Amino acid sequence: MATTVLVGAQWGDEGKGKIIDVLTEQADVVVRYQGGNNAGHTVEVGNEKYILHLIPSGILYPGKLNVIGNGVVVDPIALLEEIDHLQSRGITVNGNLLVSNRAHLVLPYHRLLDSIREEQKGKRKIGTTKRGIGPAYADKVARTGLRVVDLLSPDKFSEKLRRKVRETNEIARTFGAKTLSFKAINDEYLAASKRLQRYIADTIKLLNRLEHDGKQILFEGAQGTHLDIDFGTYPFVTSSNTTAGGACAGTGIPPHRIDKVVGVMKAYTTRVGEGPFPTELLDDQGTMLRETGREFGATTGRPRRCGWFDAVATRYSVMVNGIDELAVTKTDVLDSLSKIKVCVAYRLDGKVTDSIPADVDAMLRCVPVYQEFDGWQTSTKEIREFDDLPKRARNYLKKIAQLSGAKLAIVSVGARRAETIFL
Ligand code: GDP
Ligand code: IMO
Ligand code: MG
Repeated sequence: MATTVLVGAQWGDEGKGKIIDVLTEQADVVVRYQGGNNAGHTVEVGNEKYILHLIPSGILYPGKLNVIGNGVVVDPIALLEEIDHLQSRGITVNGNLLVSNRAHLVLPYHRLLDSIREEQKGKRKIGTTKRGIGPAYADKVARTGLRVVDLLSPDKFSEKLRRKVRETNEIARTFGAKTLSFKAINDEYLAASKRLQRYIADTIKLLNRLEHDGKQILFEGAQGTHLDIDFGTYPFVTSSNTTAGGACAGTGIPPHRIDKVVGVMKAYTTRVGEGPFPTELLDDQGTMLRETGREFGATTGRPRRCGWFDAVATRYSVMVNGIDELAVTKTDVLDSLSKIKVCVAYRLDGKVTDSIPADVDAMLRCVPVYQEFDGWQTSTKEIREFDDLPKRARNYLKKIAQLSGAKLAIVSVGARRAETIFL
């Protein structure tokens, strides 16, 4: 396997966890490069189901190194909980997990600010995961963040924390929210830092050395292209670069060392949280996709909004990520349908366009132009060879890859490892 970046080509929850798991077999190192525990990556191994939030999905494979890169925002308590949970289920998290000393921390005041800001926005709320992700990245950019390395200097950590808690409490009082106790947070996080020390490393130097030595690195993207802070449906986005470029900034591996970009997309579309979603189905078809696809958030449990495949969105994703290969997931969810629609363009204020408008209000006015396909109406779950898929399924998959503009490389027909077709 070449050094590969895996990204979501839609609005998140494309099945990245499953595809990462399938590709990890050939990798030596799996690295998260952005986001935080807003992510929820599901991996089914046999009868066991794991949902990973901060820890790279490679942790489920023995003998792989898993790295939380400098571009990730790390909630130390959430990380420890995840480690404990995996260990309680017999997964080794010892010597196979490292956290960048340069990664920024998510602290309780970030979660508080996330909630206050969402509440203040009222009807225009983003529908965040309330994990404090936006405020943590805001502090990073404002140069007022605390980083993993600060956990190693308790006095410095406490001093910075005291200032941040004081500042946040002023805001909390303004909005009538409950204030935070510096002492309680300081005690809890310094205790956590003792447990986390063994995982903290200069991952930038290490990753570059491993790459130089020919180790196979798999970059695990979180969220999706249309949630990217620059390329997504701003302001209804997350606060990091979810796209392939983020892999360099978020790990310290230079761009010319990356060989391949894999884009994961569902055979239809889902979105959690607010914001434009041109192909959303608010009728029985949408309910059917949600129920058949079990479309409920892996992090927050919220029902996911469901709709038809949007090729305008995925074509844009192929462009901004430089996607070489596509993995299409959840093909089986469409098995029973007699007709399947694909959005091939948008109609905006009477004009047909294949561009995504920068103005979110214009994006909200986009109406999909559909092409209709006949469904295959037979189960694909047991199929393991592309040529054994029903002709109509093959046509559909080829067509959505062609409309997106990249090579179809993997087709997923179920959540389990084995339910995968390689082309
Ligand atoms: P991620 O955030 O991109 O990793 O995706 P999630 O884990 O949040 O959501 C994808 C869901 O679809 C998970 O419950 C997976 O187990 C499931 N899944 C992945 N691939 C397939 C597939 O091909 N068919 C079906 N039926 N489920 C799948
Ligand atoms: P994975 O990696 C789907 C969405 C939230 C909200 C917006 C901003 O599992 O695909 P945030 O908490 O990041 O500030 O919320 O982004 N969101 C996701 N949607 N999958 C995710 O991760 C998401 N992470 C954040 O619902 O709309
Ligand atoms: Mg998810």
